[in-house]
Amino acid sequence: MADLDASVSGSFSIGGDLPVHRLGFGAMRITGSGIWGEPADRPEALRTLRRLPELGVTFIDTADSYGPDVSEWLIAEALHPYPAGLVIATKGGLTRLGPNVWLPVGRPEYLRQQALKSLRNLRVERIDLWQLHRIDSKVPRDEQFAAIKALLDDGVIRHAGLSEVGVEDIKAASKVFPVVTVQNRYNLVDRTSEAVLDYCTDNNIGFIPWYPLAAGDLAKPGSVLDEIAQAHGAAPSQVALAWVLRRSPVMLPIPGTSKVAHLEENVAGVGITLSDDEFKRLDTAGKTTFARAA
Ligand SMILES: NC(=O)c1ccc[n+]([C@@H]2O[C@H](COP(=O)([O-])OP(=O)(O)OC[C@H]3O[C@@H](n4cnc5c(N)ncnc54)[C@H](OP(=O)(O)O)[C@@H]3O)[C@@H](O)[C@H]2O)c1
Repeated sequence: MADLDASVSGSFSIGGDLPVHRLGFGAMRITGSGIWGEPADRPEALRTLRRLPELGVTFIDTADSYGPDVSEWLIAEALHPYPAGLVIATKGGLTRLGPNVWLPVGRPEYLRQQALKSLRNLRVERIDLWQLHRIDSKVPRDEQFAAIKALLDDGVIRHAGLSEVGVEDIKAASKVFPVVTVQNRYNLVDRTSEAVLDYCTDNNIGFIPWYPLAAGDLAKPGSVLDEIAQAHGAAPSQVALAWVLRRSPVMLPIPGTSKVAHLEENVAGVGITLSDDEFKRLDTAGKTTFARAA
């Protein structure tokens, strides 16, 4: 079985000055059902977080809306004072009225309030990377971008990114502040953001694919993914992860879990080296599945 060391996934420097190992961790799943309230197994969630530095994971993604607040609180409880080199990214701009309910609010004063709250929740003096969770269509996007620039200028946040955006949004935001990361849904069988990924690769912008483990029917027995997974003695989800990592040098996957065993399995996935042929066969199968579903 592959190494339990996230550094094997390689490094990427966020904004040119925040180096992270490319395999990160998504902290959305350490909350309750519907991403609401406390996790069902709080001690295991804390153990999962404390295992991250031991496994060489140096990049954690969270959001004020996960819980809400619970994810940020647990990260601070488990890991503060933070080990040197750990980069914690959070997001703001989605409100929570109940389990599985997410509503964007992009009023500048709200975005600022939430960034200031994340500072307190995470117990940091400056947020390493703050991402606009969604552009709110009810508010001119330039007002939202200006609020982010003010957070950067005031030193509340060190770097800023966007989530669920198109290339045109990135270009518009880049006129106001440096966009250092983009977080869109992307995996072997969801290629909606292919053009955004290519733009990020060309411009050395970190691309954070959420839901990176999804492989749908390709994970079923007899599929190409299953066949390649068996050849490597690996789980299909590990091969799906190895594939996204190989897809672009700016790719920063953040698989999410609330369990130490799943975290370890995901980190082991970075040790899988796909041959050119395997990479291409998976690429084709993923694209075909995506086109069929579209
Ligand atoms: N920007 C956005 O709009 C947005 C939206 C959604 C998510 N995100 C971010 O992206 C991160 C990842 O997305 P995601 O959590 O939706 O998708 P994911 O990481 O692809 O999948 C997570 C799911 O897979 C399970 N899992 C994880 N590792 C596993 C393993 N080795 N074996 C079996 N099951 C496993 C988890 O359950 P267990 O807890 O049981 O392991 C969880 O239900 C989130 O944590 C969050 O930080 C961002």
